[in-house]
Amino acid sequence: MTRPDPDELLEKLASEHSLAPKDYETLIGARSRLAPRARELAVAVRKEIYGNDVYVRGLIEISSFCRNDCLYCGIRRSNAAAVRYRLSEKEILECADEGYWLGFRTFVLQGGEDAFFTDETLERIIAGIKEKHPDCAVTLSLGERSRESYKRLRDAGADRYLLRHETADPAHYELLHPKEMSFSNRMRCLRDLRELGYQVGCGFMVGSPFQTNGHIAKDLKFIEEFKPDMCGIGPFVPHHCTVFKDHPAGTAELTCYLLSLIRLIHPPVLLPATTALGTVDPAGREKGILAGANVVMPNLSPVSVRKKYELYDNKICTGEEAAECRGCLERRIGSIGYRLVAARGDIKK
Ligand code: SAM
Ligand code: FES
Repeated sequence: MTRPDPDELLEKLASEHSLAPKDYETLIGARSRLAPRARELAVAVRKEIYGNDVYVRGLIEISSFCRNDCLYCGIRRSNAAAVRYRLSEKEILECADEGYWLGFRTFVLQGGEDAFFTDETLERIIAGIKEKHPDCAVTLSLGERSRESYKRLRDAGADRYLLRHETADPAHYELLHPKEMSFSNRMRCLRDLRELGYQVGCGFMVGSPFQTNGHIAKDLKFIEEFKPDMCGIGPFVPHHCTVFKDHPAGTAELTCYLLSLIRLIHPPVLLPATTALGTVDPAGREKGILAGANVVMPNLSPVSVRKKYELYDNKICTGEEAAECRGCLERRIGSIGYRLVAARGDIKK
């Protein structure tokens, strides 16, 4: 049998939004040649749906305590050198107030899996934000919880949930996580979130330890089938206190190419140009937008805690006030011909 032509596969993906896993693998292997065309196709489809608009989400990093021990993560519980903090309810609400004043209409509450944030506490925080700012969306990114917990938080007003699947290959998942975590529970969480009516985000790190093109092909197939509302992909960046400290970082080049492919797989997906992408390449976020992304997530956490939410080394944007972060991104996005918009930014289906 003749091998399929990668150029033809890319055009097929753009028109049919689906490929076999081995064809995704072929596309990944041919990235240096195909990236310019993939970018062109992805930008065209993104413009058709979202024009030149780039949505902003205000990220509030609520806690650096975590009961989990993900091998790649700087705030994993066994990193004794990590400086731990958690924001008070009052501080979280103040961050949202400041964000609202700065024009944000979506707040992302992200953190380690911290038992302090019980369902009751989170219900109060979510309801507090929604009561004061009913025109805003609240997104949670707080890891694995029970279905009952997800239901309570949804009932309290949470609109969206980000939970990266991390890898769609169960054996690879085991290499990145401790024994007590399982691929099947991750998938259970994603299914529960979807069934409970959240807008759901999955995603993975590009260049994570032991990752092969075959693994990435499985991630793309998973995204094609799951059809997430949001998809967070960013390069893996080593953290000096983790077992993966000597593993190389993922590249901006492969991340941007995958952003283009994901845009073609699921055209309406909300796709952030991540902080990790801006960390491995100073122009990474602009390159991400130019490859098909349409979301940026400036940091609204108090500057006093920013450095403590250290998932990986050299994380950018840890010194600026929220207003500076927003202004900086507005300029960056404007400089490449796009427009930062103050809207909830729901997926356009
Ligand atoms: N605890 C929540 C969870 O597990 O979904 C949210 C916080 S967790 C730190 C958010 C994401 O950070 C993870 O899904 C992971 O993909 C990413 N991350 C962690 N360590 C990273 C690293 N070293 N490089 C790049 N991304 C990393
Ligand atoms: Fe829990 Fe990273 S190990 S947030």
